[in-house]
Amino acid sequence: MEFVPVNRPSLDGNELKYLTQCIESGWISSEGPFVEEFERKFSERIGRKAGIAVSNGSAALELAVAALGIGPGDEVILPAFTIISCALAITRAGAVPVLADCDPDTWNMNVDEIEGKITDKTKAVMAVHIFGLPVDLKPLLALCNKHGIMLIEDSAESIGLSYRNKPCGSFGEISAFSFYANKHVTMGEGGLVAVNNENLEAKCRSLRNLCFKEPRFVHENLGWNMRLTNLQAAVGLAQLERLDWLISRKRHMGERYNRHLADVPGLQLPVQKTEYAENCYWVYGIVLGDAVDLDAQEMMKILRKKKIDSRPFFWPLHQQPVFNREGVFLDEHYPVSENIARRGLYLPSGATITDEQIEYVAETVKSILKKKTG
Ligand SMILES: Cc1ncc(COP(=O)(O)O)c(C=O)c1O
Repeated sequence: MEFVPVNRPSLDGNELKYLTQCIESGWISSEGPFVEEFERKFSERIGRKAGIAVSNGSAALELAVAALGIGPGDEVILPAFTIISCALAITRAGAVPVLADCDPDTWNMNVDEIEGKITDKTKAVMAVHIFGLPVDLKPLLALCNKHGIMLIEDSAESIGLSYRNKPCGSFGEISAFSFYANKHVTMGEGGLVAVNNENLEAKCRSLRNLCFKEPRFVHENLGWNMRLTNLQAAVGLAQLERLDWLISRKRHMGERYNRHLADVPGLQLPVQKTEYAENCYWVYGIVLGDAVDLDAQEMMKILRKKKIDSRPFFWPLHQQPVFNREGVFLDEHYPVSENIARRGLYLPSGATITDEQIEYVAETVKSILKKKTG
């Protein structure tokens, strides 16, 4: 078997055709027509009135927090188990990130913990859908309404997924997406925030583009250049046209792994279905049980020797050296996040993975575990 990459995107729809149109027309910057078309079609697909395309998902989160007016003195609740971008968006706004642990089965933020974290400074909850399975939004929205706090939905890993038959990214005040190469819709790098409110949309558009206004080059507010190029939007549009197929490929991949790895002692697999959603396996995560005499890093090294690429789970936010050095999150503990960070990894999960590759990866995992399970 040749090397199995952790992700290889599928780019054989209209990606090349639309990119060629950009080159031939000369429209390569953010002013080009694909940006507006992508924003319109993407926001329609996820059931929002407007989408504002940005340069990546981390920028989208930063823009979302800024556009909601969150700043010094405010607190935002978010999961300990997520990418650092979520916490950076909050700390860079001068606000305080407040963490909650995750559920040991779904790996999503434990909604039962949230109410106890709410103070009179809490402005928002940032819900992050993890690995292709959504957070339980119904009780979370009820809590937000009860306490008058906003919901930011990080839907980077759940493009095209639904929560109780309504698209992820359509809940709460604002949602953020990423179009990095491993996302369901990719353009290499890219992101988007989605809103329903016109004022919020105008604020996002202005902040994304250095707060330009008339007369040009006179600025009254601090913005960023977070613009997306026409080239990226061209690829994204072609991907969006194939979103249903891309999701069906991911589900096929997840189901095949599930079948091969079912009942392997010492191995926790992703939750396939909950009462509110069906997993779309953004990545196929596994967690090594206590009986396995290996941690995720050791397992990844062995897999690599067998020509299989893999990645660890997120390192929890409260144990990030960059925060601890500043005295942030010191002495905080979130045991589920800590455990899955050390015992969890994800297997090759790209849309182009073949059934033979899945079988090879699964059989390799099984044979490693056979030797290393006490
Ligand atoms: C949940 C989540 N949020 C935000 C991001 C950041 O997106 P980007 O890599 O486009 O900055 C990612 C990236 O993987 C992510 O998984």
